[in-house]
Amino acid sequence: MELVYLVLSSIIFFLFFIRILDLYRKRRMPPGPTGLPIIGNLLDVGPKPHESLAKLAEKYGPLMTIRLGSVTSVIASTPDAAREILQRNDEFCSGRNIPDAVTVLETHKVAMAWISPNEEWRTIRKALNIFLTHQHKLDTLRDLRQNVVSGMVDFLCNSGKTNVDIGKLAFAVALNMMSNTILSQNVTTYESEDIGGFKTAVKTIMLTNGKFNIADIFPILKPLDPQNIRGQSKTGYDWLHKMTRGFIDDRLKHRESKLSRFGDMLDSLLDYAEDHESDFKLLHVQTLLMELFLAGTETSSNTTEWAMTELLLNPDIFSKLRDEVTTIVDKDGIIQEAKILELPYLHAVIKETMRLHLSVPLLIPHKTDAQVKLNNYIVPKDTQIMINAWAIARDPKYWDNPLMFNPERFMGSELDYKGQNFEFLPFGSGRRMCPGIPLAYRVVSLMVASLVYHFDWKLPYPKEEMDMSDIFGLTLLRATPLLAAPIPTHIAEWVDSGEKRNI
Ligand code: HEM
Repeated sequence: MELVYLVLSSIIFFLFFIRILDLYRKRRMPPGPTGLPIIGNLLDVGPKPHESLAKLAEKYGPLMTIRLGSVTSVIASTPDAAREILQRNDEFCSGRNIPDAVTVLETHKVAMAWISPNEEWRTIRKALNIFLTHQHKLDTLRDLRQNVVSGMVDFLCNSGKTNVDIGKLAFAVALNMMSNTILSQNVTTYESEDIGGFKTAVKTIMLTNGKFNIADIFPILKPLDPQNIRGQSKTGYDWLHKMTRGFIDDRLKHRESKLSRFGDMLDSLLDYAEDHESDFKLLHVQTLLMELFLAGTETSSNTTEWAMTELLLNPDIFSKLRDEVTTIVDKDGIIQEAKILELPYLHAVIKETMRLHLSVPLLIPHKTDAQVKLNNYIVPKDTQIMINAWAIARDPKYWDNPLMFNPERFMGSELDYKGQNFEFLPFGSGRRMCPGIPLAYRVVSLMVASLVYHFDWKLPYPKEEMDMSDIFGLTLLRATPLLAAPIPTHIAEWVDSGEKRNI
């Protein structure tokens, strides 16, 4: 009998101790909604976390705690809270929680996007920056990117004025612009059937990495892979791994033969690997190639698709942008990448698209690498940190008429996306900030300028019926694809005035 009492009182004491510990921890953490046992706040968050978290923040404040299964997260929902994390405490808030879907090949252990910002991460970033942050290096490959865009224009001119899925096309174009910058070659075509497989592999990985995975919040389920996310992700990764290995082998042979160099990003990375053999190896180069395709393609094409959506809904803005682009078009109808960088209205249109349709709404979640004090709260090591950049960019406290697409708000304004203005963080801020900004801007602006200059567009329905809803994933995609028929401007009938236009 005494033993039973002893066991029972030990259990009660243990539960009491856990409860006290929990209360103590909660007192020091930012406030948040009380969750259900085991699943925590899963039902509060739902399928559109950027929206539900924004609503919850109205009640719980700029820094809020939520719990999903075994993962505790702190969410920042104001510019000040974002600054507290990404600027004042960047050093301790720059780790990553690694989703199960990205671990299929083990390459995540040397992947820039997933390792903690340690010495190895700094080396990888340095190797990449040698190419990416030097405008003149990016300039050397601009003819190749322009050729990609000319290919897109030809494809659209031959599409017989039928409806085109602009997002799908932009994805293929962005992929080829990335591949030309990285390897000086195209990797896909613009036909809807993807014979090359590259598009399918990148799409599969992006889709599986963006899906909610129950195994990420209940790690005990990882070996079971209950939603087959790991399985699908592996198909994509295996394919991409084999292809990038092939690219590197071919290039190494080419370099051995002492033929002329390509001067592209792959050459730059291999040069760096030769000079820093001990800490930057071929595995780093290959993993980085895979990451660049993944990080740069969907984000750029998605931004282009949203920009075109807004431009087709706002004909005055479309016309004003076309007038601006017209001023820099060559006699032979080519839009030079170099000249595009000088167009303020185009820049404003792209910034406004990035504000209203943030491609990566919660950034890539960060993680604390040590216990950290955020405002007056104590946040333990290994807490996930999310910045609701989507909510901040639409908050009427910081933006006039935030839901209106109004590029004018950026004209003559110093507000930029380079991580210093915490009300506008499409690329993040601090040490984890996107390293691809200069390339992303070139890719998106060249695509948008060409689509606007070379074509009039006809929607298959009245513009009032445009579906503006989005689907949450790794990037915030349009829920329904944007379809429109391209009418090349040099043969377009100008319906309103009855005139023929010849541009
Ligand atoms: C419109 C296009 C793009 C957008 C909106 C975008 C946005 C972002 C965001 C929000 C992050 C996460 C920042 C954080 O964790 O705080 C990120 C990370 C990253 N981006 Fe981009 N990006 C774009 C294009 C590109 C391009 C073209 C490249 C490659 C050349 C690229 C490479 C990367 C990489 C490698 C990371 C991970 C960095 C790290 O964790 O250290 N991105 N990007």
